[in-house]
Order: sequence, then C-alpha cells, then structure tokens
Amino acid sequence: MSVFTEETRERAREIIARYPADRSRSALLPLLHLVQSEEGYVSPAGVEFCAEVLGLNKAQVGAVATFYTMYKRKPTGDYLVSVCTNTMCNVLGGQEVYDTLAEHLGVGHDETTADGKITLEHAECLAACDYGPVMTVNYDFFDNVDPQGALGVVEELRAGGRPMPTRGARLCTLKEMAVQLAGFADERDGAVADGGPGEPTLRGLRLAEQHGISVPGFDPNTPIRSKAEADKAAAEAKAKAEAAKPAPAPEPAKPAAATGSTAPDVKAPDDKSPQVRTAETRQPDARTAVPDAPGTKVPTDGTPPAPRDAQAAEAAGVAANPPAGDGKPAGDEAGAQQRNLKEAEAGAGANGAGPAVASETGVQK
Ligand code: FES
Repeated sequence: MSVFTEETRERAREIIARYPADRSRSALLPLLHLVQSEEGYVSPAGVEFCAEVLGLNKAQVGAVATFYTMYKRKPTGDYLVSVCTNTMCNVLGGQEVYDTLAEHLGVGHDETTADGKITLEHAECLAACDYGPVMTVNYDFFDNVDPQGALGVVEELRAGGRPMPTRGARLCTLKEMAVQLAGFADERDGAVADGGPGEPTLRGLRLAEQHGISVPGFDPNTPIRSKAEADKAAAEAKAKAEAAKPAPAPEPAKPAAATGSTAPDVKAPDDKSPQVRTAETRQPDARTAVPDAPGTKVPTDGTPPAPRDAQAAEAAGVAANPPAGDGKPAGDEAGAQQRNLKEAEAGAGANGAGPAVASETGVQK
C-alpha cells in the first residue's frame, strides 16, 4: 500500500494542474517537495509516486532528485541547519560556527543527531554574503552568527522552541517548509512574515544614489500587477502580435532533385576565418578599447597576432602551470602568477627582443 494518502494525491493533481497539459513534467520540482513534506526526504516510494503521477520513469525522476541539494535522499532531522562556509562567510568566521556546532552536536556534514532533531550541513553560499557569516534553519536566515549564537539556536530547537530567524516568520519544521516549497500556503498563525530589506542589502543602492547612478527607464513606482491582470495583458499582447504577423511568404522553389536526397536543408557554413571571428568576439565594437593580456597585443583589424606575441603568451602560460606530478593542481606553485606577470611585462617592454622561453624557474629571455 502506498505511503501517500488520497490528500497527497489531491495536492499532486493541484500542482500538475498549474502547468500546461503538455508540460506536466515541469511539475516535478514541486512534486518532489510534496513527497518530501510527507516523509522528510525523497524516498524510493516518493520517486515512484512522482514517476507514476507524471508518467515518467523512475530514472528520470531520480536524475532530478539527485541533482538538487534541497532534495534529501535519506531521513533528515526536523531542523536542517545549514552553515555557509563559502569564501565570504568563511573569512568572517563561518567555519568556526560550523566546527563548533559539529563538535557540540556530535555530527558531521549531512548527519543527524540521535534524537532526530537536527541535521547539520555546510553550504556553499546561501546568497546572503552581505550578512555573513550566515546560517539557515530550514532555509530561514540567521544573519551575522557567531559560535555562541548558533549554539543558542540549536539548543532552543532541541528543547522544543521555535526561535525567530533574523528575517521572516518563526521557524517551522522541514516537513512544514516542504509544503510551502511545493506551493501551498502555511496555515499556521504567524507562518508568514515580511520585512523590509536590511541596510547591508541597500548599501549598493545608497551608493548609486549618492553618485547619481541610475538605470535608464527604470520606474521604481511601477505597480506590481495581480496574476489576473498579468494574464490578461499577456493574452492581449499575444493577440496583437498574432494580428501583426506578416502573411507567410511563398515556399521557395526546391532545387532539382539531382541526387534524390531527402536530407533537410543545412545552413550555409560561416565563411569567416577563425581569426576574424575571434577578433570580432573579443572586440565587438572597435571603438571600445579592450585590454590585452600582459606582453601581448591583439590586433583589432582581424589579422592574427604577431608570432612573437603568441609565443610570449604561450610561454608565460606554460611557466605559470608546471605539470602536476605531486598531487597538487597545475599552477599551484607559490608566486607563479606574480612572476609570470612581471616577466611577461618585461618581455613586452623589450622592443624587438626574441620570444620568451620557458624554463623550470619561469620565463627567461
Ligand atoms: S558566502 Fe556565505 S552567503 Fe555567500
């Protein structure tokens, strides 16, 4: 017997009905959240359920479910605590927050405490770098956390409390959050809260104002239309575009079937030389100066770079990226970049000198 009730099936039908009939597979993402709201993770039964209601096979559903980190493949705690350990948060102390929680809870990445309350994970940029270091609990933010503050939050959760995040409503469980992610309103009292953007988020806007920078044609008072109004406007625009469409041109005469081939027409090949195409890509507008790599000069008229420039650039690249034989990534040698830059510049300055030659210690002339 399926673990999913008739109520879940009804919700699944509601989700699918939001999409055009011939695009029902687009409902897969919210459906995965729906099954996760029932079991706390996307179980094999959840994969089977999604496949059945969408007419997909289990491999297709599994491919999507394993791609996104928000779909959990094993039972997850009531509260998913994600600590950002990416660059910005890390330099501000994110790793310390993560390590403190891991030690206190006795779990590592993607592990759950024995009481089933907390799952800990480290995350790669939670898109709130301006509030770093940040952690989220079931995707609600705690900004500017420190180890003690983070410990306070998890202890309150383990004691049955539901602390307030820095922004948004009081925390809910992961299953309750999955219902919202599937596209259904959370009916709890105070489940939805709003707040204005914080000062760090507005900092860029304030600087732009101070310096008189604005986006042409942007009206900050543009009203946000309701869905019905937006649908009506879209239908009108579509009808207008249809009416303005020119009558279809007569079919061009087909070439004589000399070979009897039924292959479709193939676009004529681009007859530009690779050098011209590269130059156009790098310098689409000849009035705009594009800086070249140090020590090289890329012509703007479509001709290939001088052999000396090409060789100098290649030699500089080789010198900065010695073959990795010691398990380190190529180019990991300390100071290689600075040396490369300095030597390439010296090469560019030596007018008429021969091409630079790579050696084990860098570039020599
Ligand atoms: S680096 Fe932590 S939110 Fe971006």
